[in-house]
This record gives sequence, structure tokens and C-alpha cells, in this order.
Amino acid sequence: MDGLDNLRKKYLDQISTKSNQDSLESLRITILGKKGELSLKMRELGNMTSEERQSFGPILNSLRTDVTSAFSKKKTELEDSKLNERLKNEWIDLTLPARNRASGSIHPISQVTEEVSAIFAEMGFSVAEGPQIESDWYNFDALNIPPEHPARQEHDTFFLNRNDGDDQAPNVLRTHTSPVQIRHMISNGAPCRIIAPGRVYRCDYDQTHTPMFHQLEGLAIGRDVSMANLKGTLEEFCKKFFEVEELELRFRASHFPFTEPSAEVDLRCAWDNGKLEVGKGENWMEILGSGMVHPKVLKASGVDPNEWQGFAFGMGIDRLAMLKYGIPDLRAFFDSDLRWLRHYGFSSSDQPNLHSGLSR
Ligand code: DAH
Repeated sequence: MDGLDNLRKKYLDQISTKSNQDSLESLRITILGKKGELSLKMRELGNMTSEERQSFGPILNSLRTDVTSAFSKKKTELEDSKLNERLKNEWIDLTLPARNRASGSIHPISQVTEEVSAIFAEMGFSVAEGPQIESDWYNFDALNIPPEHPARQEHDTFFLNRNDGDDQAPNVLRTHTSPVQIRHMISNGAPCRIIAPGRVYRCDYDQTHTPMFHQLEGLAIGRDVSMANLKGTLEEFCKKFFEVEELELRFRASHFPFTEPSAEVDLRCAWDNGKLEVGKGENWMEILGSGMVHPKVLKASGVDPNEWQGFAFGMGIDRLAMLKYGIPDLRAFFDSDLRWLRHYGFSSSDQPNLHSGLSR
């Protein structure tokens, strides 16, 4: 038994001198591990007579208990001191002023695109997209604008190069978002209800024209979607977008190759110090083109015009932004002038939605 007392002292001394967790752990394995000294001793109990075992067993057990608890105490001690060490060395001065961070803002085009999408989403329209480099067929032919049609000239199209000897019609930078109608109907068929916001390109540059600008296309196809639905949809849209209770729209007969009949839509408004007042006054402002989708367009998109009909419309997002937020010059939209962006930009934490208000 004396031997065991010595052993206890030896073990406890060894444990107490350990100064880090790794060496403590390897000591633990030497003593208590599967093949550790104490474990082997415990195993010897099996070879003893039952009297020996009765006296030796409890002593050995209590030795193991003591050693085990000395280990866990030491482990906690080492952990605590390690933590204290870190707490002493790692600290931050919370009174230091924070570094300045430049905060960005949302461009009016993005803001208006979000606003418009939120309004149409509530009316059951989903958002569709198409490529900005289009084939001649999607941009023109499928929309009932054959080669030699005068509308092709009106579009001031940017053409892409073809290799020498390649006599296919050149691809174009899309001149409007209307080709997305075709793409959507070819892939999804009818019925459908979509809007397609995106960039479009025309070779034109002055205060109200830039070579790249943004349009929003709308398309609703069903078995009995009518011109009345078009009027209702656009009226609802304008009220929500301009945030007014009352307004007046004027549908003026017009012509687009891809709609029949076609109408341009004007909004009754007044100008007050350069700011637009919607719903009153003696002025009419043209805001979009629209009409009932031409049967040839449906046919080109694989939709049977004897079964389906619907309306389409197209408007300029940039123009909507200029009108709603009183921005006078379109060119400034694309100058990346930070002072302009700070003035006309929107906070990134204000997501437009119909319940908390569309803007600011
Ligand atoms: N694509 C026409 C343009 O760029 C706008 C337009 C007019 C789109 C009438 C339509 C529509 O869908 O029905 O001038």
C-alpha cells in the first residue's frame, strides 16, 4: 500500500507541474490511457486472489479517482489561465472613432425599375429578360418589321460586324425590349403576364437621348385579354407610380408594326416650376406606346392567334425617372458624377414596396 501512496504523490506532483494542455494530455495518456500505468495496474486485479482484490481494489479505485479529478482540475486551471492571458492581451478601445465609410446610393434607374416591378408584381406580372445583343429576326422580323420596313430606319440601329463572306443579317444591339415578348412566348407559350425591363441602344445623343437607355416592356396574353384590360392596367400602374389618387390618361390612335390597334398614351399634367404635377393642368405628356399584340407576332412566337390575344406596351424607364423625380437632363444619368448621384440617389435600405411607400 505504501507503494501506492508514493505513486499517488508522484502522479499528483507530475500533474501540478504541467504548464500547458498538450503536455497535460500526454501525461494523462501515460497514466490513465488504455495502456497507461494505472490502467495496467487495474488490470492486475484480475490475477489476484479474492482477498487481495478486496483490499487492493478500493485503494486502486480511489487512487484513480483522485488522479482523474486532479487532471480535470488542472485542465480547468490551464484553460482559465489561458483565457485570462488572452483577456489581458487582446482588447479593443471602444472609444476610438470608427473609420469613415463612403456610403453608396441607389441610382434613380435602379430605383424606378424596382418601383415599377413592385407595382406590376402586385398585378400578377413576373419579370422576364432577354439578351442585349439580338438577332435581326427577334429585334425586327418576328415583330412584324420586315426588311425595308420604314420602322427599321427610325430605330437608328447599332449593327454588329459579320466576318467577310458571312452574308447572314448582322446581329444588332437591341433597339427596344419588344424582342423579349417573342422570346418569352416561344419558351413559355400562352397565357402569360410579364414585364421586361432592360437596356436598349440607339445611335442618338442630345438632352433627352443617350445611345444606351432603358425600357420596360409589358405583355399580357390570355383568351379574352382586351384593350379595356390594357387601359385598366396602365391606369392602375400610373396612379401607383406617380403616387396620386386621380389621374387622366388619353389613348391616342397610333401605329406600331407589332400591335393592331395601337395607341400612344398621354398623361394629363401641369408643370409647376419644372416639377411635374400629375392629374391636373392643361398639358398632355406622352408616356408610352401600346396596343393589342398583332396576330403575326403571336404566330411568329408559336402562339395561335385564333385562340389567344392580348396587349403589349413599352415605356422608357429613364423618362419615367426624369418625370417623377424632376431630373432635367438624361445625359447626367450616365456620367457617373458622384455629386449627381448623391443628390438624386436613393438609400440602399429603402426597398420600394407598395405598403411602406415606393420612394423615400
Ligand atoms: N418598342 C416600341 C419602341 O421602342 C415601344 C412599344 C410600343 C412597345 C408599343 C410595345 C408596344 O410593346 O405595344 O418604340
